Amino acid sequence: MGAGSALDLGTGGGEVLLELLDALPGDTVATEGWPPNIPVAASSLSAHGIPVVEYDAEADPLLPFPEHRFDVVLDRHEAYVAAEVLRVMRPGGRFLTQQVDGRNFPETQAMFGGQSNYPDITLANLSAEAVAAGFEVLAAEEWQGQYRFADVATLVRYFAHVPWEVPDDFSVDRYARQLLDCITRGGSSPSPSGASTCPCSVQAERLRKRGQLEGRTRLRWTVQLLACGGCGRGAAVKDRQ
Ligand SMILES: C[S@@+](CC[C@H](N)C(=O)[O-])C[C@H]1O[C@@H](n2cnc3c(N)ncnc32)[C@H](O)[C@@H]1O
Repeated sequence: MGAGSALDLGTGGGEVLLELLDALPGDTVATEGWPPNIPVAASSLSAHGIPVVEYDAEADPLLPFPEHRFDVVLDRHEAYVAAEVLRVMRPGGRFLTQQVDGRNFPETQAMFGGQSNYPDITLANLSAEAVAAGFEVLAAEEWQGQYRFADVATLVRYFAHVPWEVPDDFSVDRYARQLLDCITRGGSSPSPSGASTCPCSVQAERLRKRGQLEGRTRLRWTVQLLACGGCGRGAAVKDRQ
């Protein structure tokens, strides 16, 4: 039986959720916490009957929904608290998330100094957190690819969209030397491209069975580690129990 309700955490402007429109249940809700995107998401999703609830996981770990509210929870590149996701999912529901690995695009640190803001975001850690929250992981996968930027202006525009990937004091003037070095290294087509993005995905399924976990009666979950973006690396699938 298909899902009767779905939640999209951190929907952005709703662009990716709208790509799934044909598959979404009538009872679909989205959250968004970044002020510039809240009206964008509300305007694009309300036309399709999808309410947007203002919520920022990094400011408040508690999801503004009652327990067992959703059959499916989606989360693409948004922070989440695994125990909270589990709480709002009904038994038998599924959680599917894709996260950008904290080691993503290390060339930025090589260029500008500093360290990743999210060193703990790894597939291993997310899977362990899911299990600790009461999920059971069914499958997880990692994918790695390359960024290529046509020129430095494009690179700077990219950083404007992901300010958390550059130092807080980043500006073109302040980091002009590093940006010029990047052009020198890249020749006519500067592309600080090496090993870079590394998103990982975890899909969780909540089973209807109840089981014992750490001596307390808990709902039992399985998590399926699924292919993300067509890669085949690092698949580890556990059978459902
Ligand atoms: C990376 S976005 C992903 C949005 C959506 N799920 C998608 O896949 O397109 C995750 C969250 O970051 C927010 N966000 C985007 N740009 C931001 C910025 N410059 N500062 C803070 N948050 C930002 C988005 O509005 C969204 O809530």
